[in-house]
Amino acid sequence: MKKILVTGGTGYIGSHTSVELLNAGYTVVIADNLSNSSIDVVDRIEEIAGKKISFHKVELCNRTEVDLLFEQEKDIDAVIHFAAKLQVNQSVQEPLMYYENNLFAQINILQSMLKFGVKHFVFSSSCTVYGNPDTLPVTETAQVKKAESPYGNTKQMGEEILEHSCKTKPIEAISLRYFNPVGAHESGLIGEVQHGVPHHLVPYITETAFGKRPFLNIFGSDYKTPDGTCVRDYIHVVDVATAHIAAVEQLLHGLNKKKYEIFNIGTGIGYSVLNMVNAFAKATGINIPYQLSPRRAGDVEAVYADTKKALSELKWKARYTVEDMLCSAWNWEQKQRGIIN
Ligand code: UD1
Repeated sequence: MKKILVTGGTGYIGSHTSVELLNAGYTVVIADNLSNSSIDVVDRIEEIAGKKISFHKVELCNRTEVDLLFEQEKDIDAVIHFAAKLQVNQSVQEPLMYYENNLFAQINILQSMLKFGVKHFVFSSSCTVYGNPDTLPVTETAQVKKAESPYGNTKQMGEEILEHSCKTKPIEAISLRYFNPVGAHESGLIGEVQHGVPHHLVPYITETAFGKRPFLNIFGSDYKTPDGTCVRDYIHVVDVATAHIAAVEQLLHGLNKKKYEIFNIGTGIGYSVLNMVNAFAKATGINIPYQLSPRRAGDVEAVYADTKKALSELKWKARYTVEDMLCSAWNWEQKQRGIIN
């Protein structure tokens, strides 16, 4: 059984990926500092998969702790690195915290990998690197635009660190550029935990459906899109998780065409904000009250993925529909609120 280290494994995408890794027969080691997640998630992952994982509470920004982790967990075959801070607004307020947290952690892990002879690394990147793309759907070769936020910049810099490290060091890596991951595991045991007012669209929709928010503000209705609202490529978090299994297998089987590769992880379909509100009503029977509001600073007009490279090289494609995504998000919201068991 191959052993995979999942940093940030108790977080939103990390927890879903850990479940899929266990389902696929891998041994899973999670390293997380629990700064934005809870230890209960470990039990939930184990409950869903019916298998045990090894958990380490680690500050990845501390080089000594990372070395100790690699020393204790011998024979790690690959690392999937999720652990990062990810709030765009917060990153603008606290740039140094973001650069320190996101970059130091990645560098420390790569250094430990070199020291302990671990070769394979999968990185959580984001479609945010494309900014407002010139052509749609956007391919992996599209120009990387100057980042609008320190968060976005840590993703761009993270990719560059990998590109340069793969050139001269015994490291092979894949960056997965996620589009907009949404939804939750069908069990309703794991999902995206909200702290305060949600920034992202789907949690805001489900909190409005639940009655916690009186209405949804739709940020901008004068974009040059079919209905005037922004267009995104929403993708089920379980599909994002299976993309990581495909990426790890690509590396473990030596199938990467180059030592460093980048893949878009999306469905390839663009949905506007209004499309999402309507799809939620169709999927759940609940109409979301909304108000058309001014544009939100930093939002791009439209972005959706060209998914051909992931299909032809990783043999991966998204399986879930937007209704599946929204039903699972609503199921998660209701379970958290104790409306359903
Ligand atoms: C952005 C990044 C994504 C990154 C994420 C991290 C882009 C294209 N995407 O997601 O890669 O992982 O930040 O935080 O850069 N909306 C409303 N009302 C709301 C909330 C959102 O209308 O209450 C709209 C937004 O204006 C946007 C869409 O819904 O048009 C999606 O927003 P959100 O869920 O926040 O994701 P992005 O900003 O696309």
